[in-house]
Amino acid sequence: MRPDHADICVLGIETSCDETAAAVVVAQPGRPPRICSNVVLSQIAEHAAFGGVVPEIAARAHVEGLDGVIEAALAQAETRLSDVDAIAVTAGPGLIGGLLVGLMTAKALAAAASKPLIAINHLEGHALSARLMAPVAFPYLMLLVSGGHTQIVLVKGPGSYERWASTIDDALGEAFDKTAKLLGLPYPGGPSVERVAASGDPGRFDLPRPLKGEARPDFSFSGLKTAVRQAAGAIAPLSQQDVADIAASFQRAIVETLEDRVARSLLRFRADFADAAAPVLVVAGGVAANRAIRTALERLCGDHGFGFLAPPAELCTDNAAMIAWAGIERLRAGLLAQEDPMTQAPRSRWPLDMSAAPLIGAGKRGAKA
Ligand code: KG4
Ligand code: ZN
Repeated sequence: MRPDHADICVLGIETSCDETAAAVVVAQPGRPPRICSNVVLSQIAEHAAFGGVVPEIAARAHVEGLDGVIEAALAQAETRLSDVDAIAVTAGPGLIGGLLVGLMTAKALAAAASKPLIAINHLEGHALSARLMAPVAFPYLMLLVSGGHTQIVLVKGPGSYERWASTIDDALGEAFDKTAKLLGLPYPGGPSVERVAASGDPGRFDLPRPLKGEARPDFSFSGLKTAVRQAAGAIAPLSQQDVADIAASFQRAIVETLEDRVARSLLRFRADFADAAAPVLVVAGGVAANRAIRTALERLCGDHGFGFLAPPAELCTDNAAMIAWAGIERLRAGLLAQEDPMTQAPRSRWPLDMSAAPLIGAGKRGAKA
């Protein structure tokens, strides 16, 4: 459906990692936002042989795919470039080659069609994506678990974030991908581990729950990865059942670690916002597709009196609808970039909360292998 006049219509572009994406989102006064198109060209096949994202291959694939993806997004939304009110593009954090492709394309379109350009932080896209589904009130907590990030962020409003917790080593998706590689399971690792874990014994291997019980709210996964390597090495060669048992034990360790770590931030939210009537945890990122993790987080939220919101997989994983929506939220909040977006350079590192102490994995996106 073509948007009518009173609506805000934004074209979003996302190229920060291995998905080439474009979307058209329309915000209508007093009505839920409408995702008119959400096109994602995944590069999984290009990277599968390498067991992870290869930055150079990703950048070339974005160059080849982006024009067609944008055309498809506009066509599906029955919208012409001249109809959109603005173009929102991911300017970071991410792989610099891919970011350059998206940002340069968006600048060219903005200049040619005389449209405002909005440079978006990819993490802000994830942080606000829940509000595309439901009118979640600020402030709320967001757990972002993807191949490049693991963090808990207090979302106070567009442009206003506090990072409460982050990984001190590997991202959670990275831990799934590395475990899958070690077990000889296909890329991307997360879905493979979840699939084989279904027929495994989660109690067979006694794997660590990193940082469990510690007062600091952060995450750590590299010790768990090492423990998996040692457990697998001790019984090699692995039978199919061994692989399933290790995957199931790993997944259980992750679930119990997340329960313990996330609970810290739920308790802090309760203490800091004692009068919040309906606190909410939203989850985003590819790992949020994992059913064992979703179920555990939903139960944990129930136990702590929190609502739990997990957007559908197509909005949890990387997409451009969340970038278009972040652009709309910024437009509505009157948040204009200090820097002219037409001269903005891509930023491989761009934490949401600039005041938070730098930690590995916080505000950085790199190759996922
Ligand atoms: O958000 P995403 O699509 O891209 C990044 O921004 O990284 O997340 C991809 C990550 C990969 O590490 C993948 O293995 C993981 O999410 N993942 C999963 C599952 N589906 C995807 N991890 C665990 N269980 C899953 N079902
Ligand atoms: Zn992402």
